[in-house]
Amino acid sequence: MEIKILNGRTLAAEPGKSVYQALRDNGVYLVASCGGKGVCGKCRVKILEGKYRTESATKLKKKEIGDKVVLACTTFPEEDIHIEIPEDSKLVIGDKIAVSKSKGFLDFLRSEEPTLTPPVRKIMLSLLPPSIEDNLSDVERVKRSLSEHDIEEMRFSHGFVQSLAKALRQHNWTAYLTYTENFEAISIVSPERVKHYGLAVDIGTTTVVVYLVDCTDGTLLDTGVTYNSQMRHGDDVITRIVHATEGGALQELRNAVVDDINGLLNAMMERNHISRDDIDSAVISGNTTMVQLFWGLDPSSIREEPYIPTVNSYPAWRAGTAKLLINHQAPVYTIPCVGSYVGGDITAGLLASKMHRNPEIALFMDIGTNGEIVVGNNEWLITAATSAGPCFEGSGIRHGMRATEGAIESVKINPTTFDVELGVIGNVEPAGICGSGMIDALSEFFFAGIIDQKGKFSRDLNSDRIRIEEEGPEFVLHHGETKDIVLTEVDIENLLRAKAAIYAGMSVLLKEVGLSLDIVERIYIAGGFGNYLNVEKAIMIGMLPDMPKEKFSFIGNTSIAGAYLCLLSEKMRREAEDIAKKMTYIELSVSHGFMDEYMSALFLPHTNIDLFPSVRERYNKEE
Ligand code: FES
Repeated sequence: MEIKILNGRTLAAEPGKSVYQALRDNGVYLVASCGGKGVCGKCRVKILEGKYRTESATKLKKKEIGDKVVLACTTFPEEDIHIEIPEDSKLVIGDKIAVSKSKGFLDFLRSEEPTLTPPVRKIMLSLLPPSIEDNLSDVERVKRSLSEHDIEEMRFSHGFVQSLAKALRQHNWTAYLTYTENFEAISIVSPERVKHYGLAVDIGTTTVVVYLVDCTDGTLLDTGVTYNSQMRHGDDVITRIVHATEGGALQELRNAVVDDINGLLNAMMERNHISRDDIDSAVISGNTTMVQLFWGLDPSSIREEPYIPTVNSYPAWRAGTAKLLINHQAPVYTIPCVGSYVGGDITAGLLASKMHRNPEIALFMDIGTNGEIVVGNNEWLITAATSAGPCFEGSGIRHGMRATEGAIESVKINPTTFDVELGVIGNVEPAGICGSGMIDALSEFFFAGIIDQKGKFSRDLNSDRIRIEEEGPEFVLHHGETKDIVLTEVDIENLLRAKAAIYAGMSVLLKEVGLSLDIVERIYIAGGFGNYLNVEKAIMIGMLPDMPKEKFSFIGNTSIAGAYLCLLSEKMRREAEDIAKKMTYIELSVSHGFMDEYMSALFLPHTNIDLFPSVRERYNKEE
């Protein structure tokens, strides 16, 4: 059977597989917050032609059902079908994903050390060919030459020794020996091979980013980004942990992400004419669950009290064992994690922000699904994760989407007429609303009196933009030809919960160390979201602390930036270890103060308006 996509490809569909599975198998990804369980209602497609069977219509409106809109995950073709995928069902990687500015980091590394120190080095060996008189074995011959360079402690693995005899003879006994910083031999390579390469990898819950780096001079040669295919098992880490443990799919999840990395890698090697043997190191960064899944470790204890990961400081791994399709012997370095919900991505983030080096007290926030927060300076660091949820990334919001083309990213509302002015990424017809748009909308709703402090719509406003639908009241941000874009009261509840979790997490951390906000000199905002955040509006809704705008710095995807630094510098790898060791991890879910802080932060902007003087001032002025 076949599925033909309107204005797109025609794909093979195996009998018994849902439309969603068939699309996914062919690399066409739909938004699937519930992982294809028929619950979230996000994977809508329209059937244009052909017979099909559908098992559920959760969240579909009567009109949609009449128009043959179905949930792809619960719909099965019974013959060739022709479908249309609406824009907001397509999972699109943001073209704005923050690919950090490698040049700035390279300059920084150069200012620190005269030479780059990737995990793999090389040394030229000129060996005397063996003879009847000089009959040392190949390994002993290499050792003899190394001792002439004062290297005595080299170790030789079985894999290395297996390829040694052929390689030495092929290169006429003059060749480079590549070896790890811990003196483990990797390979014998041609004396002509001047360059060698490495990978920096960020395994995010949603996306996987790979940098291909020339380790001889630090140049970032190529970047690959794809969705983490584990997404098919759910948007968040908890769903994946459940799937890995209760669903027995640990290996499947591991393979999914390894395939993602290898897939990106293959394309990059082809584009840059690089052979896999010449890529001889890799650095992996990710949150604790993503890293455990990459390592094939059962993640169940991450989810159960007392929330303990299997390992924080990972040993070096070999690419062959990790199944990365680069040089078999290449060391794979994993950036150390801190606790169950503060992973190596945060260690990498701190490394890139350099806040661990400065005496000024700073706050680091990675506003993604987990909302990790770190407070500290060069002497101490304390951290927690807030489980803010993925709504700022679009999940759990009726028309929520990531910050890609078609997303409403800014909202202005006239408080008298309620006319709406929208900023849309790509200046196209709006398809949904992304995190920064949601924050704007919330702030504008509040100051225009459309919602109250609890996020409830005012019932006595006279505007056709506010209407009551099946799921309750909603505000129409955009009247579209095919569909309206709205924010519902349920959406607003979700947003208030997320912003409250972030603010409460920060307050609890500061209280833990007996500090108040005035002492914080700088706030670093990391994560893809951090690039588009409107600070003033985020303060207005009580998500970020009321501090001067100049104190905020947006530092993008620091997880990949930290991995890049670790790939090129031994000093950075040591600093990453120190950062992870130095961070004190607080488990907020068992913290007594957290619930109180959270409840107080559920209001707009906060129960205690004195914490937000600039908001109070504006509010008083407008009243
Ligand atoms: S309803 Fe199909 S993925 Fe959630």
